[in-house]
Amino acid sequence: MQTELRKVKKLNIVIVENFDQMSEHAANMLRNQILTKPDSVLGLATGSTPLGVYRLLAEYHEMGLDFSEITTFNLDEYIGLAADHPASYRYYMEENLFSKVNAAKKNIHIPNGMAPDLEKECERYELSIQNAGGIDIQILGIGTNGHIGFNEPGTEFGTTTHVVDLTESTINDNARFFESRDDVPTQAISMGIKSIMKARNIVLMANGESKADAIVQAVKGPVTTDLPASVLQLHPSVTFVVDKAAASKL
Ligand code: GLP
Repeated sequence: MQTELRKVKKLNIVIVENFDQMSEHAANMLRNQILTKPDSVLGLATGSTPLGVYRLLAEYHEMGLDFSEITTFNLDEYIGLAADHPASYRYYMEENLFSKVNAAKKNIHIPNGMAPDLEKECERYELSIQNAGGIDIQILGIGTNGHIGFNEPGTEFGTTTHVVDLTESTINDNARFFESRDDVPTQAISMGIKSIMKARNIVLMANGESKADAIVQAVKGPVTTDLPASVLQLHPSVTFVVDKAAASKL
């Protein structure tokens, strides 16, 4: 089965010098998507990796790039953090992108980690992606353990938007965004692997040596739920944009 699956592998890998070049490459892919289809549906990510991309998109907007018809779906959100909590992904997106471009509020979608019924919220979110016509281009970072979105190792490939328990490694990695490690939520809502794989195009970005192991396993390792990003080997249109340090083990 695995050998069969590997036959459809078609990964584009772009290796660049550094964070700035990685950001420029990915931002240009998004700009081209928006120019080609002004009402594109963008799948967006958080974390430190896409910060340069958002800075560039804000600059492109100042130079005339129009987001008025764009729809966005974020990958994930912590459970239990209000929208005005500085570590919530809603806050992050507002700070880094939405306050700087002209996307319409009604077209911005982020899972609601404060929803009273989380299962319902997951269903609602998945359905709204479908109703928007699906994602044209999905931006991804990668966790040091190979997670995409918040799909931790062991997540089934058939998952749609779901509630996840964060692993120790992810809680440790993300503690830097909180006052103390104890403040990091232990759960999140995340698009599932299946939701991500439905995107028509995927761009995974990674920079820095700490991502080198995850990248080599995602690109060259077996397709396995132990390393969630390895599933991308089965996607027909995925581009890895990685800097030299993250590519050092390829
Ligand atoms: C979080 C996010 C992921 C992101 C990852 C990597 O866990 N849920 O979507 O890819 O962090 O973060 P960073 O880009 O800060 O290394």
